[in-house]
Amino acid sequence: MQDLYNIVVLISGKGTNLQALIDASHRSSYTISAVISNKAKAIGLNRAKISGIDTYVIEQESFNSKLEFEESLATRISEINPKLIVLAGFMKVLSPQFVKLFRGKVINIHPSLLPEYPGLNTHQRVLEDKKKIHGVSVHLVTEDLDGGPVIAQDAVYVRPDDTVESLAKRVLEREHIIYPKVVESLAIGKIQLSDYDI
Ligand code: GRF
Repeated sequence: MQDLYNIVVLISGKGTNLQALIDASHRSSYTISAVISNKAKAIGLNRAKISGIDTYVIEQESFNSKLEFEESLATRISEINPKLIVLAGFMKVLSPQFVKLFRGKVINIHPSLLPEYPGLNTHQRVLEDKKKIHGVSVHLVTEDLDGGPVIAQDAVYVRPDDTVESLAKRVLEREHIIYPKVVESLAIGKIQLSDYDI
């Protein structure tokens, strides 16, 4: 029997990308083994529970240091032994040590056309700069914040009357399409992260 392509999804909040991954998983080659949140109140946890997916809460506040928090996170992930770790609105910057531990196995989705606009408030900054094109990137997570190799992107036109909210909504819609597609492409070997020189 072929090895199941199991993933772990890390979240902090609403989990709409998680929902898209859950919905697509029913007609895909990957399975979600667990969802881990660093916030006990993350709405995304309920989405996982409703779908019968194991959930874990690991909050940094319960530990004396970020190091201990990441050790606990790493232990839990290692126990689950996923093929891929999928960050979906996980609002914690992972340390270089953590990234090294799971090198080449962690991906993230970011609401901009990287390398443009790494970091926060991307929609606001795009509007302030009067950009005509914005978008979403899925990238491999490396030690550089939002700086790992880009795996896939999708562009969104910025409309003259766009607000942060309207732009965020359109980008998010694209996120929900592209993220499951990338995970599926990885699951079936259409994309291989080992191709990257990291
Ligand atoms: C998305 O915009 C994603 O690109 C960013 O965080 C947001 C998460 O949204 N990394 P959700 O929790 O998946 O709804």
